[in-house]
Amino acid sequence: TWPQENDDDIDLEELIASLPKEKGFISPIQILYRNFWCPSEVFPGVHSFCRHFTAHDSDIILACKPKSGTTWLKALAFSALRRDVFPPSANNHPLMSSNPHELVPFFEFTIYGQAGELIDLASFSVPRLFATHIPHDSLPESVGQSGCRVIYICRNPLDTIVSFCHFAPQVKPELWSGGRSSMEEYLDYCCRGIDGFGPFWDHMLGYWKASLERPDKVLFLKYEDLREDTAGNLKRIAEFMGVPFSEEEERDGVIEEIVKLCSLSSLKELEVNKTGKPGVWSTENKTYFRKGEVGDWVNHMTPSMAEKLERIMEEKLSPFGLKF
Ligand code: A3P
Repeated sequence: TWPQENDDDIDLEELIASLPKEKGFISPIQILYRNFWCPSEVFPGVHSFCRHFTAHDSDIILACKPKSGTTWLKALAFSALRRDVFPPSANNHPLMSSNPHELVPFFEFTIYGQAGELIDLASFSVPRLFATHIPHDSLPESVGQSGCRVIYICRNPLDTIVSFCHFAPQVKPELWSGGRSSMEEYLDYCCRGIDGFGPFWDHMLGYWKASLERPDKVLFLKYEDLREDTAGNLKRIAEFMGVPFSEEEERDGVIEEIVKLCSLSSLKELEVNKTGKPGVWSTENKTYFRKGEVGDWVNHMTPSMAEKLERIMEEKLSPFGLKF
């Protein structure tokens, strides 16, 4: 539970001062808010979203911890959901000129994160498609109370940590250069449950349990499964969103077209993703596309680092049937 905040004139500085804080790895500090560690720079957006967003029954929200496959899921869900207006084979498909983060905005970075200038939610096509990194149990109440659907993607924490440790120093070199932070230190914070939007086990288990309780409202995916069978999982995503592929579409290869359009190799080569900036952390689009390999952690972690994290995963995730 967290303090109820009904007062619109709440003083953010005062609120932040009253909350527990720790060293940050992508923002100068992390703030414990609503039972998760919020990177300080995104705190105003998180706070505004949690207090002001009202979900509609038809809304679809993509949720994940950073570096779990957010960009890929955004591309796939957008392409499947809007394929009546934007056929995946079209030369002017929005993914050709816009990064997935522009097409499916985050609540906390983009929609509520623009220093008070709220994006007009009424201008969104229905069903509205959004994204968030916020844990399930910390989302605004209307998300659980409405018919709104949530698609969650998670990834082996070993690979997520490696991915983050390649991403964060590019976005915030001042927090990493000169030995200010290292993968070993970040891993230690993760093991102690002090990672952005985490503890990571609470993040996964919150959505995992919700998907078991309300399978028609919460779809739980793994990056590894998506890599192994992208087409099969894309079909599940489309069905879950209420836009299943017809037999005719399957025959015409629409699923394969979307898989190809959204593949790492296709997106990475687009000019927009080589040069543009989408505004999330004000980082360059190219930082979202690296190797996309399952098990890349073996190339970057010592056996003792991996063992330390695997012990925590065994303790926290295995009892609930979550394995990687
Ligand atoms: P690696 O750093 O392991 O390569 P997020 O999108 O949540 O920020 O996650 C980024 C990770 O997803 C990176 O992993 C990135 O390479 C990978 N990724 C990005 N786009 C992808 C795609 N279209 N298909 C598969 N993986 C993708």
